[in-house]
Amino acid sequence: MRVNAAAPDLDVDEILADRAIRIVVCCGSGGVGKTTTAAALALRAAEEHGRRTVVLTIDPARRLAQALGLTELDNTPRQVKGLQPDSAELHAMMLDMKRTFDEVVLAHTEPKKAEEIFANPFYQAMSSTFSGTQEYMAMEKLGQLRARDEWDLIVVDTPPSRSALDFLDAPARLSRFLDGKMLRLLLAPARAGGRSVFNLVSASFGLFSRTVTKILGAQLLSDLSGFVGALDSMFGGFRERAEQTYRVLQAPETAFLVVAAPEPDAVREAVYFAGRLAADRMPLAGLVLNRVVPVAAPRLSADDARAAAARLDEMGGHPSTADVLRVHAELAELHDRQAEVAGRFLHAHPGVPVVRIPAQPADVHDLDGLRAIGSTFE
Ligand SMILES: Nc1ncnc2c1ncn2[C@@H]1O[C@H](COP(=O)(O)OP(=O)(O)OP(=O)(O)O)[C@@H](O)[C@H]1O
Ligand SMILES: [Mg+2]
Repeated sequence: MRVNAAAPDLDVDEILADRAIRIVVCCGSGGVGKTTTAAALALRAAEEHGRRTVVLTIDPARRLAQALGLTELDNTPRQVKGLQPDSAELHAMMLDMKRTFDEVVLAHTEPKKAEEIFANPFYQAMSSTFSGTQEYMAMEKLGQLRARDEWDLIVVDTPPSRSALDFLDAPARLSRFLDGKMLRLLLAPARAGGRSVFNLVSASFGLFSRTVTKILGAQLLSDLSGFVGALDSMFGGFRERAEQTYRVLQAPETAFLVVAAPEPDAVREAVYFAGRLAADRMPLAGLVLNRVVPVAAPRLSADDARAAAARLDEMGGHPSTADVLRVHAELAELHDRQAEVAGRFLHAHPGVPVVRIPAQPADVHDLDGLRAIGSTFE
């Protein structure tokens, strides 16, 4: 579907067919269609290109999760049923943040130490609520899947962050957090408005540590230092793996697709993100413009359609034809507005190829819906 003739077309099938490409990452701001796009790409790679594919989804809508056979949050890829042909192989998994975190701990510490960490209230709070943890864990999981080398292609959905950049920033932020600075952070006075357990704790520590020791007791302090000590043994590991995954993301085996809806905020976010990818030397394959309003007769302008409808009204009769013309006029205008908004991306990043996915008549929640989206990649 073409909106703006100036942008080169993104050939998605070429990417999916390219055996040298092993990872496709779908990123973009919240609600633009990352999960849907990732699932549609993965299904197409498996069905049309015969690639053994795994899709890592994050918080898919319930019905889509069901269609992919994701009824359990168990952090392991499961084969999706109902593919055509039968021999096509797609595996899907849903990221379970807490469990991934636990797996990392288990893999890098003695079982006894791991038990202590799991039991620690600070670990429990952090592994499920620390902001950026989900982004970090998506990275971590991607690293694990890639290391297993079991799939021809890994398609990665990214978390519903406010900002698409969070995905790339999280590993650095988390490893900084887990770094030696952590203790200092815990002991420093809290910044105003912080809500995390750590800020609460740090507020208490910085300002009234003696009182706190009395009130909260030695148990809390030993929990805290136990936690810090235990994580301490893993700091290097965290950072090293984050750096490794970063390097994989920079390699030519990876293709980033920035997903955006043709709306000002989403496009602005996509512009930033594409800039960031370039700065980090990560390979941007193109922009996926999702939910583009389709127009049946692109050469009939809104004005002409309205004039024709008015003329029909004057002549009497044909009321439904006049209605159709008016609906067309509205769609054509919306289409033009969307093209104008999308043009901002192309202006900021000329030469980046674009593919448009038409808005579907209903939400996409089954394999056929994903195939319909995939067919626009032809
Ligand atoms: N082209 C489309 N046509 C119609 N509906 C769509 C289209 N793309 C996505 N949707 C619907 O929009 C909703 C949001 O899509 P999706 O969950 O893929 O977005 P997301 O970017 O992953 O959101 P989040 O940031 O919350 O993770 C879903 O209900 C999905 O079915
Ligand atoms: Mg999503």
